[in-house]
Amino acid sequence: MKNKKIIIIGGGVIGLGIGWQLAKAGAAVTIHERGQAGRGASWAAGGMLGPIAEAHIDELDLLKLSNQSLARYPEWVDELETETEMSIGYRAEGTLIIGIEPDDAEQLRHAYTLQQDLGLNVEWLSGQEARKIEGALSPYVTAAVRCETDHQVDNRLMTQALQRAYQGRGGVLHQNSTVERIVIENGTATGVQTQDGFQAADTLILAAGCWSGQIKGLPDTIIPPVRPVKGQMLALRMREGITIKNVIRTVKARYPMPVYLVPRTDGRLIVGATTEELGFDTDLTVGGIYELLHGACEAVPGIYELPLIETWTGLRPGSSDNAPILGKTPVENLIYATGHYRNGILLTPITAYEISKLILTGETSETIAPFHLDRFSKEQGL
Ligand code: FAD
Ligand code: GLY
Repeated sequence: MKNKKIIIIGGGVIGLGIGWQLAKAGAAVTIHERGQAGRGASWAAGGMLGPIAEAHIDELDLLKLSNQSLARYPEWVDELETETEMSIGYRAEGTLIIGIEPDDAEQLRHAYTLQQDLGLNVEWLSGQEARKIEGALSPYVTAAVRCETDHQVDNRLMTQALQRAYQGRGGVLHQNSTVERIVIENGTATGVQTQDGFQAADTLILAAGCWSGQIKGLPDTIIPPVRPVKGQMLALRMREGITIKNVIRTVKARYPMPVYLVPRTDGRLIVGATTEELGFDTDLTVGGIYELLHGACEAVPGIYELPLIETWTGLRPGSSDNAPILGKTPVENLIYATGHYRNGILLTPITAYEISKLILTGETSETIAPFHLDRFSKEQGL
C-alpha cells in the first residue's frame, strides 16, 4: 500500500477523515481541495450527533449506520484530540425535542411512539420536567422528548483538527486545487486532471460533497445522485441567565418552522436551519433569518435579548434517498464517499474507518454494503 498513490477529491470532514485514517496506516495520500479545506458543508453544520432526533421510520439502514458512528465517537474524539492536542468540543449533555402548541405535542407524541417502537433511548417529559433541565425554556413548552444519547461536536474545530492530524501523519493537502476531470481508461480510474495537469493515482476517492456529481469524466450511469440542499444558520452569544446546555430541537405542526439550538462551550448558540432546494444558491434571506429567530425565540424567549454575531449558509450534499453513497463503483479503483446530507458530521467516524478499511483490505464490510451506488439502479429495476 505504501507505494500506491491515493487521491481524495474534496477536503471536507469526509475527505480529511478518510485521509487521516489512511495516512495513519502509512498510505501515500493526496487531497485536492478546490478552495480552503473544511469550508464547505463541514464548516456550515450544526455539529449535532443526533441519530434519534433525525430518525425516519423509512430510513432504518441509515439509523443503524448513524448509531454505529455515534458509538465510535468517544474513541474518535480521543484519538483526534490526543493526536492534535486540541479540543473538538464534543459534548454529551443530550438533546431535548420540545413541543409548544397542543398540535406540536401531538406530533411529538407520534414521533415518540415510533422512537419507542424502534427501541431507541427516549424519555417523555412534561413541560415542567423539561424546564427543570433547561430553565430558559419557554413557559409554553407543553412536552418534550429527551434523547440522552444524541450528542454534539464543534464541527469547525473538528475540521481543523482533522486537517492537522492528516498533515501531521504526512498526508499531502493541495488547497485551491480544483479537480476538473476524473480520468478513466478502459474502465479503470487512473487519476485526475487539475489546473496543474494530470495527477496519477492507483485509487481515487470522490468526497466532493454536494459538488460530487459536477466533476467531468464520469460515465452518465455512475454520476452520483447528489444535490445541494441549502441551510441558513446563525449564531448568538449566550449570556448569564440565558444559557442552555442541551441541544434543543422544536417540533412544529404549523408555524414557524422547526429549529434547533446548539450551545457551544465557547458561549455561542448556533440556531438552524432552513432546508431549501434552490440548487447552488447560497444567499441569506430575510425570510430565512426571520423564521430561525422566530422559532428560536418561541422556544427560549430570552433569546430576544442576545447579540446576533454571525449568519451563514451551507449546502448539504443530499442523495436521492438521503443516505450516503459509500464504497466501490463499477469503475475499477474509484471509490465514493459522498451524499451524507444532514448527517455528515455524525457519519464521519464510520465513513473514515470503513472506507479506509476498504482501501487497505479491498473488502467491503457489511456495515457499508447497503450504501453502495448500485442501490439506485436496483431501485429503478435496472
Ligand atoms: P463538504 O464539507 O462540503 O466538503 C466537500 C469539499 O469538496 C468542499 O470543501 C469543496 O470545496 C470540495 N470540492 C468540491 N468540488 C471539488 C473539485 N472539483 N475539486 C476539488 N475539491 C472540490 N451534519 C451533522 O451530522 N450534524 C449536523 O448538525 C449538521 N448540520 C448541518 C447544517 C447545515 C446548514 C448544513 C449545510 C449541513 C449540516 N450537516 C450536519 C451535514 C454535514 O455538514 C455534511 O453532511 C458534511 O459536512 C459533508 O461533508 P463533505 O466532506 O462530504 O462535504
Ligand atoms: N442535521 C441538521 C441539518 O442538516 O440542518
